[in-house]
Amino acid sequence: MGELFSEERSGEVVAASFEDTPDERLREVLTSLVRHLHAFVKDVELTESEWAAAVDFLTRTGQMSDEVRQEFILLSDVLGVSMLVETLNHRSGGTATEQTVLGPFHLVTSPPRELGDDIALDGTGEPCRVEGRITGVGGEPVAGASVDVWQANADGFYDVQRPGVLPERNLRGLFTADEDGRYWFRSIVPCCYPIPVDGPVGELLRSTGRHPYRPAHLHFLVSAPGYRTVTTHAFIADSPYLDSDAVFGVKESLVREVVEGVLTFDVTLQPDDA
Ligand SMILES: [Fe+2]
Repeated sequence: MGELFSEERSGEVVAASFEDTPDERLREVLTSLVRHLHAFVKDVELTESEWAAAVDFLTRTGQMSDEVRQEFILLSDVLGVSMLVETLNHRSGGTATEQTVLGPFHLVTSPPRELGDDIALDGTGEPCRVEGRITGVGGEPVAGASVDVWQANADGFYDVQRPGVLPERNLRGLFTADEDGRYWFRSIVPCCYPIPVDGPVGELLRSTGRHPYRPAHLHFLVSAPGYRTVTTHAFIADSPYLDSDAVFGVKESLVREVVEGVLTFDVTLQPDDA
């Protein structure tokens, strides 16, 4: 007979139930998850009502999620898990542009646009030119790199948060860098905004006295054949909340000043060795 469940050995006993998982990685992940989960429950001596509250919280987090609202990503973001996964998986080694969170608003495809186009379709905000150059770590231009950008409007809303009110694909664009790796387009100066607080994640922030704000930023997803895709932001230098981002996304190397209406953001890509 195998070992029976006990308070002392609960984590080991349950972990052992996954011993025969054919996929080695799945076995490793589940075994570790169970051990940590059991240690956590013992650490806080979880009560039955707290367990029920957790089940209710996670249930509502799932129910809140759909194709344009991702409450689970938001939960992962405010717990710093999204940022940790990014950090573990994209160590830049100090030579390439650092990564940060994808965030919950890249749920629609950015429309292909021509270099120089204006992505601000709703007519609000302070106009700004965004430009930069995509290079490899050796300084070589990455001609034809794909530069996917998205940002919130002057009121702090992404297009998908205000369907029917904001123009579709407002402040989103998919650009192709030129022969010299350069890209440029028109937009507005990003501003800080609160993450959505009308769901379970908002409850979590309120009950813990945390503010929901993210410092001003513009999202970038830059990719090219032969290079590792980089998911990152350009953060605006004088923005509030740079040192208290609700999702822990700020890295010093990503902060830029808007100089005379121009935001310059160069991106250095690592070779795709994998
Ligand atoms: Fe954002």
